[in-house]
Amino acid sequence: MYVYDEYDQSIVDARVEEFRDQVERRLSGALTEDQFKPLRLMNGLYLQLHAYMLRIAVPYGTLDGRQMRMLGHIARKYDRGYGHFTTRQNIQYNWIKLADAPDILAELATVQMHAIQTSGNCIRNISSDQFAGAAADEVADPRPWAELIRQWSTFHPEFTYLPRKFKIAVIAADEDRAAMRLHDIGIQLLERDGVLGAKIFVGGGMGRTPMIAHEVKDFITADHLMSYLEACLRVYNRYGRRDNIYKARIKILLHEIGVEAYREQVEAEFAAIRDLGLDPPLAELARITAMFKGPDFDADAPDTVDRSDPDFAVWLDQNVAAHKQRGHAIVTISLKPIGGIPGDASADQIDLMADLAERYGHDELRVTHAQNIVLPHVRKADLHAIWTALREAGLAEANLDLISDIIACPGLDYCSLANARSIPLAQKIGERFAGRQRELGELKLKISGCINACGHHHAGHIGILGVDKKGTENYQLLLGGSGAEDVSLGKITGPGFDEDGVVDAIERVTDRYVALRERGERFLDTYRRVGMQPFKEAIYG
Ligand code: HEM
Ligand code: SF4
Repeated sequence: MYVYDEYDQSIVDARVEEFRDQVERRLSGALTEDQFKPLRLMNGLYLQLHAYMLRIAVPYGTLDGRQMRMLGHIARKYDRGYGHFTTRQNIQYNWIKLADAPDILAELATVQMHAIQTSGNCIRNISSDQFAGAAADEVADPRPWAELIRQWSTFHPEFTYLPRKFKIAVIAADEDRAAMRLHDIGIQLLERDGVLGAKIFVGGGMGRTPMIAHEVKDFITADHLMSYLEACLRVYNRYGRRDNIYKARIKILLHEIGVEAYREQVEAEFAAIRDLGLDPPLAELARITAMFKGPDFDADAPDTVDRSDPDFAVWLDQNVAAHKQRGHAIVTISLKPIGGIPGDASADQIDLMADLAERYGHDELRVTHAQNIVLPHVRKADLHAIWTALREAGLAEANLDLISDIIACPGLDYCSLANARSIPLAQKIGERFAGRQRELGELKLKISGCINACGHHHAGHIGILGVDKKGTENYQLLLGGSGAEDVSLGKITGPGFDEDGVVDAIERVTDRYVALRERGERFLDTYRRVGMQPFKEAIYG
């Protein structure tokens, strides 16, 4: 993984001290909340319903054991003993005291972590495929490219005050495990005639106006990637709307002027800047790439697994994926125990996952877009020992991509913008369907507590949106969304429901699916084949 040089470290250390001074001035009353707000947001510190929330960046979701252990330590020392992993591969703490925030950031800096650009109208943490470097289907490890973009975008003077926040994802496989097309810019690495380059998608996003990113550039080579991105951002910075917060994202600009006009503007800007020397030398990409070379795998590791324990076999089939290296596997640790809070992990669980990574996983962990944790490089021979340890810690739920593997936003339990609770609903759905989730097969369910769509409800095979109906919590149901390579936006079924009503409605939807499905069809496939009508009839009679 990427290792800070002295320059990186001094930037992060200096930032901690700057923020310490700002917090002291706020605590002494020298700064008002209005003056302090933009300063704290630049350091990932939000004010929520009950307390401060701190969002910490996990660049492209990659952590080592020492960093993971630090996250556990922070949960234990400064929060209420747990942390919440997010859909953009970050971690959030919900119960932070303002006076502690500088100390937390100072502790994080000792393990090369920070909260810079995790909020505000800037380029946020760059996200990527959680299986990067381990997946058999990637053309290259996307993380060196993500790291290069991180360096380019961190404190980029021109892009610190964009019209609105900006999210970039980089993937390198046809299977999209990072919701790439739902980002402001999505980058897919490709090989053409033996040359590695990237396809660029622009203008995706969720929120109140969900849109799928458009292909804007068919192929750009590494030597000009930064100047091309610079051109994409410049056109947005110049023409993106600043008069209306709801129309400020780049997706709205593309929608208003059209993809063609946007592409022409970008190409003109690119032509003007491509030879000005903005791109870092390829040697820098090579330097970074060397840090991601990956572990020395045990080439003789046995390729077979003893499946005689039936519970273990279920977990193997559900949560373990193929690795590019023979005798190895990719483990997804579910942070979705039935009845639990999606994405939460206790300090003890975080420590255990760090231990397992160090002991069995070449000291690597990943945070996933679906709020789970991955051990990307483990020997098949160690899978049973890993599973046994996870089971003792309540981390062995075999539900990856099943109906209880829910993405849910914090909702009304924490968030000041919420219309409805997300977490209790996720818990109820998990409990209702636990017994038949395997029979239902792949079914991605996503819940947002309001139209801002932090819980990706537009991209759920089944999506749920919390709305306010005359002062009471109400839930709309959506069907047919996907955040993967078969990306699509869900459609609302009809009138909403109360909390129990929406769980009943999902049951009617899944019953109808089971009755209609053809062999091998996922819920999403059946929905796409038969359309909304049969499900509407099942729900509303
Ligand atoms: C409780 C504190 C939070 C607040 C106040 C908050 C606020 C918002 C707002 C206002 C938006 C819409 C912005 C826009 O479309 O321009 C948004 C979008 C989003 N948030 Fe949050 N959020 C919170 C927590 C979270 C959490 C915990 C997650 C991850 C689980 C998350 C992930 C996202 C994502 C993925 C989007 C969609 C961005 C897009 O439109 O593409 N947020 N959030
Ligand atoms: S979707 Fe709405 S309720 Fe949920 S975290 Fe985002 S802003 Fe809050």
